[in-house]
Amino acid sequence: MRMYDIIAAKRDGLALTEEQINFFITEYTAGRVPDYQASALLMAVYLRGMSAAETGALTLAMTRSGDSADLSAIPGIKVDKHSTGGVGDKTTLIVCPIAAACGVPIAKMSGRGLGHTGGTVDKLESIPGYRTQLGREEFFRIVQETGISLIGQSGNIAPADKKLYALRDVTATVACLPLIASSIMSKKLAAGSDAILLDVKCGSGAFMKTPEEAAALAEAMVSIGQHTGRKTIALITDMDVPLGSAIGNSLEVQEAVAVLKGSGPADLTQVCLALAEDMLVLGGRGPRESCRAQAREALSSGAALEKLRAVVQAQGGDPAALEDFSRLPSASLCQPLTSPASGYVEAIQTEQAGTASVLLGAGREKKEDAIDYGAGILLKAKVGDYVEKGQPLALLCANSQHKIDAALPLLAASFRLSPQPPALHKLILGRVTEEGTCFF
Ligand code: URA
Repeated sequence: MRMYDIIAAKRDGLALTEEQINFFITEYTAGRVPDYQASALLMAVYLRGMSAAETGALTLAMTRSGDSADLSAIPGIKVDKHSTGGVGDKTTLIVCPIAAACGVPIAKMSGRGLGHTGGTVDKLESIPGYRTQLGREEFFRIVQETGISLIGQSGNIAPADKKLYALRDVTATVACLPLIASSIMSKKLAAGSDAILLDVKCGSGAFMKTPEEAAALAEAMVSIGQHTGRKTIALITDMDVPLGSAIGNSLEVQEAVAVLKGSGPADLTQVCLALAEDMLVLGGRGPRESCRAQAREALSSGAALEKLRAVVQAQGGDPAALEDFSRLPSASLCQPLTSPASGYVEAIQTEQAGTASVLLGAGREKKEDAIDYGAGILLKAKVGDYVEKGQPLALLCANSQHKIDAALPLLAASFRLSPQPPALHKLILGRVTEEGTCFF
């Protein structure tokens, strides 16, 4: 079998066989297929798509490319969560502590930023000392002692995805249904939890721009979960506007803490409570209404904040940084973006806002780039807000004027103003389960 023929077949719109997909994944993982051939195949898949059978075969090949975690030594129903990626999406830092505070064991492996979207591992690593790479023993011990551990994808969990994920990030091949579905589900299957909650983002800041595309991705992933014996639910949530006000790693940690203290932005709090409710349902914590009430109680009692503190401490992070934000990385420069006119904020092109945060240093442009944990954007106005001319729309935070100069025009272009108040979007658009898809 030759990689050249596999690329040519997909370029010409043919379906790949299971053998061809297994060959590509095995050989690429072993380093015998160079990045330029893998990139060509990714672009062909991006342009030509994949059938459900090809997507299933790609998922299983990537799952089998490494080890599968056996979490059976941890008692209880382990529930994993995964977001398809968004801007300002710090929900894992809030939802997982809520679920753990309600008794659902969380043994979670998270990812890094991808394209214009942020990643939980980068956010956690902005907490001084926090270790995202733990051995199996320590990972299990922390879940057993504190009820929650949040780590990065280990070297041996779906290594094929790890390599392809980094390659897609820099070859403009991220926003592709079969590549996203197989990337997410291969990791989730290998990570060993009993049930999976998927947060499928939809809108201008998501890889899926319309509710129909988001539902198709959610249905593909729920079907893969169903066929592999994992109870899977997907919530479709809004990403037409950045979630909350903070974009960038340590800024987002601060906002997550604010939500856990009950003083965070309303949109972020609402999405987190909805996700937590479904995690509790999957974790068998009772009927939906009771799960909703338990999630609210974990937030208002401070139990969820206590869980975040516990996991930060257990993984070597500085728990005092969650109280005293001056202990977190920060930017030396902060420059306002001011409104060019008076009016209502009608839209924020969220992918552009995410890319502006990457230009400030909060994400990577090349695989090997280092993150500037203190860099990012603080939104001062969201969709529906009225602003006067000259009033700040956002603050750009970076450690070089160069970076602010590069990001400012992009962020400015992402805001659209209108004399009329805009119609507001729903935050939770729908739910996909094994029983079907329901739009709210
Ligand atoms: N998140 C993932 O894990 N993979 C993707 O491809 C996109 C989002």
